[in-house]
Amino acid sequence: MLAESGYSDKAIAYYIEKPYMGVIPDADQASHMTGTCGDTMGIYLKIEDGVIQDARYEVMGCAGAVSAAMAAVDLIKGKTIEEAGKLNDGDIFRVLKEIPAKKHHCIQLAVKTLKKALDEYQSNG
Ligand code: FES
Ligand code: FES
Repeated sequence: MLAESGYSDKAIAYYIEKPYMGVIPDADQASHMTGTCGDTMGIYLKIEDGVIQDARYEVMGCAGAVSAAMAAVDLIKGKTIEEAGKLNDGDIFRVLKEIPAKKHHCIQLAVKTLKKALDEYQSNG
């Protein structure tokens, strides 16, 4: 069903397996954002010496948002805050390869939520 709607195998695997779904109870940063569609995303970061040691996502939303969140988490683990802050829609798109055109704003929601978390972490630090 998802493949017929234009999702790549990678995007579908992220959606079904949800490898990084959940909260980090002792996260150094937890931030949430609600998109214009009403879907909500939360990101939890564990950061040591400026490096993201662990990252997890919660999503109350669509398959596109879940896949985009998983891809974002995959990409930022082990990166510095500065490197993670450069993550953009194109990076996630390259991981997911195909996602229905009307779901591109779900990728933007993942990027915006991540940037919010990094900004809040830095302004709290
Ligand atoms: Fe809702 Fe992007 S704003 S899916
Ligand atoms: Fe809302 Fe995708 S439709 S995040």
